[in-house]
Amino acid sequence: MAGNWKMYRTPGETGAFFEKFKPLVANSTHCEIVICPPFVDIPAAIDASHGTHIQIGGQNLFWAKEGAYTGEISANMLKAAGSKWVIVAHSERRQYFGETEETANKKIDAALESGLTPIYCVGERLHHREGNQTNQILETQCAGGWDKLTPEQFSRIVIAYEPVWAIGTGKVATPEMAADAHRCIRELVRKKFGPDAAASCRILYGGSVKPDNIRGLMAQPEIDGALVGGASLEAASFASIVNF
Ligand code: PGA
Repeated sequence: MAGNWKMYRTPGETGAFFEKFKPLVANSTHCEIVICPPFVDIPAAIDASHGTHIQIGGQNLFWAKEGAYTGEISANMLKAAGSKWVIVAHSERRQYFGETEETANKKIDAALESGLTPIYCVGERLHHREGNQTNQILETQCAGGWDKLTPEQFSRIVIAYEPVWAIGTGKVATPEMAADAHRCIRELVRKKFGPDAAASCRILYGGSVKPDNIRGLMAQPEIDGALVGGASLEAASFASIVNF
């Protein structure tokens, strides 16, 4: 269960979140719990989660190890700060910051090289779904992101299926729609990396996940977890998602 805080919360607010969140998930060992706050909140999140099983991740990275790239953060920097995870190619990054499969590919490579687990985001826009192009879009995005990976590298990534029309809109995909898309992704994994990889790869659903719809989603065997935006900002709501 991963929370994507997007551009919300200051370092002070991060500390306050963890004070409330920690006791609510102290016994929640049935899943991994990841919080991806803004970069400047990572030290506060690492401090506050010390000694718990809550893990911290970045929301983005740049692929170079270091250099003259004003405003960017490398995989090694995230790792050195204590992060274990990083979100790659979130649809907001694709939409507002020009990210493509090609940049995703480089970012996934850089993350894996540093030992971070990338959460690679894919998902169709509304006109794709309405035009029956969902599977085709997933194929392009998946192939673009992971085609150059070895099976060993692929085993270290997590996929997030996030239909763009469901993100931040309150329009959640029905559990069946989400499961169909997950099946399509798993089939792409099977074709490229074989049946074992398809069976073991973890695919999260994201897009308006809330405490009141998480159970229906998680009842689908295809859905291995969730990438949660808005509902991860409040300790009580994210905890009730974790503890569905
Ligand atoms: P949302 O965001 O839960 O607010 O829809 C999900 C995401 O963008 O990862």
